[in-house]
Amino acid sequence: MENSKKIRILITGGAGFIGSWLASAYIAAGYSVAVVDNFYRGKRSHLPAGVRVYEADICDREAIINIFGEERPHVVNHHAALVSVRESYERPERYWEVNFKGTQNVVEAVQRANIQKLIFASSGGAIYGHSNGMPISEEMPRTPLSPYGESKLAAEESLHRLDDRTEAVIFRYSNVYGPGQDPRYHNGVIAIFADALLNKLPPKIFGDGHQTRDYIHVRDVVTSNLTAVNSGVKGIFNIGTGQGHTLRQVFRKISEMMGVEDISPTYLPANDFEVLHNVLDIARARAELKWEPMVSFDHGISETLDAIVEYAPDNLKA
Ligand SMILES: NC(=O)c1ccc[n+]([C@@H]2O[C@H](COP(=O)([O-])OP(=O)(O)OC[C@H]3O[C@@H](n4cnc5c(N)ncnc54)[C@H](O)[C@@H]3O)[C@@H](O)[C@H]2O)c1
Repeated sequence: MENSKKIRILITGGAGFIGSWLASAYIAAGYSVAVVDNFYRGKRSHLPAGVRVYEADICDREAIINIFGEERPHVVNHHAALVSVRESYERPERYWEVNFKGTQNVVEAVQRANIQKLIFASSGGAIYGHSNGMPISEEMPRTPLSPYGESKLAAEESLHRLDDRTEAVIFRYSNVYGPGQDPRYHNGVIAIFADALLNKLPPKIFGDGHQTRDYIHVRDVVTSNLTAVNSGVKGIFNIGTGQGHTLRQVFRKISEMMGVEDISPTYLPANDFEVLHNVLDIARARAELKWEPMVSFDHGISETLDAIVEYAPDNLKA
């Protein structure tokens, strides 16, 4: 897809945290961008100028088929989903409906409109479950613990229905963070910790805080998606950093950078649905996609904190 001016991309969930970063990056690259979002979590104000916006639910099969048929993009980038592990226990049916059945609708609409490429945002944090070895490669067993993880794995598998007309790229992201992540919705521990400290409240840690996660900056996620549009690769790729940080380390780093010395986390009983360690092996993405995460942990956190403080009400900035 060499002539960027002619490339049309449709992003589902494009008004959300990751989706809106993608929309901005694709617009900056000169692509023609459309977004489909029901605005359950996404915001119009996140979207850059020049994007065509369709307010629609991916569970509405007919609407999705019609929009894809009208737009006829070269690439569909499917990011719409319900994304909270914790909430998925409270609303498992809705998680299944949106994440699995909604993806089935997207797959059907992609095939009907003869779309060349489908990029799907899966979860390397939620679908592997308890793994014996770290880092986790794409071949390791998938045994999700939560309804969220189950729905994302089933969604991935529904991409197998695509025939040869469509190249499928599945990205299994680790824990994505960065400016624009909303701390109110139970995921995104970096945003949640920073928001608590800004409000002078002790962040909650479930368990002893020694659980490790692989935190990837949203800009690195964006470059993986830009690369996927322009390369002929297909298949499943872990997208993370290959590096683990414990929750205690994250808390220490954020309090240090915010200059907070007098607030300690509140430790609560561990959640059954949390794995202890989750760090992704990214050798395949490096070798085949020629992609490399570039944002260091320190720089990424500092940039995220700057953005959170910038948007905080004045009385919280002192
Ligand atoms: N943030 C992470 O750490 C992470 C990690 C792994 C995978 N992912 C995946 O990346 C994608 C984006 O996640 P995010 O963190 O940007 O979340 P987000 O909630 O900010 O974005 C999801 C978007 O989808 C929209 N949406 C939800 N239900 C919809 C529906 N029925 N129809 C149309 N639109 C709908 C929301 O309004 C929102 O704009 C999701 O597929 C998620 O599973 C995220």
